[in-house]
Amino acid sequence: MNSSAAPILVIGRQGQLALSLASLRRPDVVCMGRPECDLADPAKLADLVARVSPRLVLNAGGFTKVDQAESQAEEAYALNRDGPAALARICASAGIPLIHVSTDCVFDGRKPAPYTPEEIPSPLSVYGRSKLEGEEAVAIHCRQHLVVRVSWVFSEHADNFVRTMLKLARQRETISVVSDQTGYPTYCPDLAAGLLAMAEQVLAPGFDAWGTYHLAGREEIDRASMAEAIFSESRALGGPSAQIVPILTRDYPTPAERPLNARLDSAKAFDTFGLRLQDWRIGLQKSVRVLVAEMS
Ligand SMILES: NC(=O)c1ccc[n+]([C@@H]2O[C@H](COP(=O)([O-])OP(=O)(O)OC[C@H]3O[C@@H](n4cnc5c(N)ncnc54)[C@H](OP(=O)(O)O)[C@@H]3O)[C@@H](O)[C@H]2O)c1
Repeated sequence: MNSSAAPILVIGRQGQLALSLASLRRPDVVCMGRPECDLADPAKLADLVARVSPRLVLNAGGFTKVDQAESQAEEAYALNRDGPAALARICASAGIPLIHVSTDCVFDGRKPAPYTPEEIPSPLSVYGRSKLEGEEAVAIHCRQHLVVRVSWVFSEHADNFVRTMLKLARQRETISVVSDQTGYPTYCPDLAAGLLAMAEQVLAPGFDAWGTYHLAGREEIDRASMAEAIFSESRALGGPSAQIVPILTRDYPTPAERPLNARLDSAKAFDTFGLRLQDWRIGLQKSVRVLVAEMS
């Protein structure tokens, strides 16, 4: 760990990624959420960066409600595009790097193979478009940036697919889950550790590989099978489980369209940073254990 006095400033405190970063208990990582830190308030962001004087900023915040973004586009763009743009300008003028977290939803999911960072985005939703414009703004305003796209993130922290499935299983005997959306599930504390490893490397003298990366788990699964995996772990612990009814995305309309293929190819992160996330099923075991204990 870099023992330099200046901390890493994380934007976000109560979200899944912010809580996962905090769970790593690094004394040099400071997580700031609302109200002191607000992506919709550039002056407050500038004050915060001046006060904390970080060696790097990691933006783990944003408007993350994919369906709600369709009817709250203004708020989504304010937090996912304008806030990161302001943060990028602030970081550039402070001379510090910015790591900005983005999403697989910048892609339309029609490619029959994992997406590399070089592929041309084509978002299907307001959320995806607002995140893509945020990526572009970060790249324009702060040369020393990494955009790190992540996908299918789960953990024992905050709201995510694992918590939702276990909660639903307490209420219902059967749950319909889409079986035609595939992804690489990513255990959030592993992602958090990966992002901090990237932070250390970009701070090393001579680093110049700025740009866009993907960081995700490696084993492909569909949503319905992931739900099965969650319930199999839960049943073994005497926790809630339900019968899964696999359905197709077209039979489960949602306000925002999601990419059917959410798989992100992390090879560039491995080649540049030597990063490879561990098997997500290890993280799933821990998440289910903690959540089942919490629910009992
Ligand atoms: N979860 C996934 O599967 C997934 C997939 C793809 C990409 N991502 C990306 O990963 C990043 C982290 O997502 P997450 O899963 O941690 O989301 P989350 O659990 O929904 O948390 C949202 C975070 O955004 C912060 N936030 C919301 N409004 C804010 C504002 N006005 N100013 C400052 N911060 C604000 C919240 O901060 P408070 O502490 O103030 O609540 C919270 O920390 C996001 O960029 C998201 O787009 C996530």
